[in-house]
Amino acid sequence: MAGRKQAENTQAGDARLKVGVLLSGGGTNLQALLDACADPSFPAEIVLVLSNNEDAFGLQRATQAGIATAVVNHRGYETRALFEQDIDKALRDAGVEVVCLAGFMRVLTEHFVADWHDRMLNIHPSLLPAYKGLHTHDRALADGVATHGCTVHFVRPALDDGPMVVQAEVPVQPGDDADSLAARVLTREHVIYPLALKLLGEGRVTVQGETTQIDARPGPMRLRWQDVGH
Ligand code: GRF
Repeated sequence: MAGRKQAENTQAGDARLKVGVLLSGGGTNLQALLDACADPSFPAEIVLVLSNNEDAFGLQRATQAGIATAVVNHRGYETRALFEQDIDKALRDAGVEVVCLAGFMRVLTEHFVADWHDRMLNIHPSLLPAYKGLHTHDRALADGVATHGCTVHFVRPALDDGPMVVQAEVPVQPGDDADSLAARVLTREHVIYPLALKLLGEGRVTVQGETTQIDARPGPMRLRWQDVGH
């Protein structure tokens, strides 16, 4: 997988892991990745930011950081497969090795997901496997859970499924509504997405069966709330 290849590259003094980001909206997670990659010692670099939405603010963030952008508008395609063909071409033309989904609001076909097997990450605002799908914060609050969080995982065809790389726990606090909880979770998303990419870029992540191994330890890295400054 790409992470391992990168470890070899780094030892050979070669390029950093080349990342393409797909998004549809504001791109605060993209910004966290851009900020991390701005450090030349970070083992990954973003080479393309692609959106299905030409108005996505994330595209402006990319341009501001001097990163190439592309728009592939799904409305211009008769089928999902044709839409994805153009996304795939743009990614490959840019030399992308790993794809990061960062609020990309289109469902991807099995074919596309298979083409990027163990080379495509997603961030999801829950402690998977709990609360797959939408409205995760409302559902966590309705259940009265004490601990919520977020997960970076490899993408599989099933929604919000796949080997998990990093998770962060986030406490639910008295008086929380979905917005306040989402905002707290987002602060951790901005920590774990760069962390997962760093682990991948350093060649420390492998997938055995459907479980990640980080430094040969099975299972995702899990950050507790008190582990990270806030
Ligand atoms: C985040 O909540 C992420 O977990 C979900 O989409 C949202 C994207 O937010 N996958 P942003 O565009 O990165 O601010």
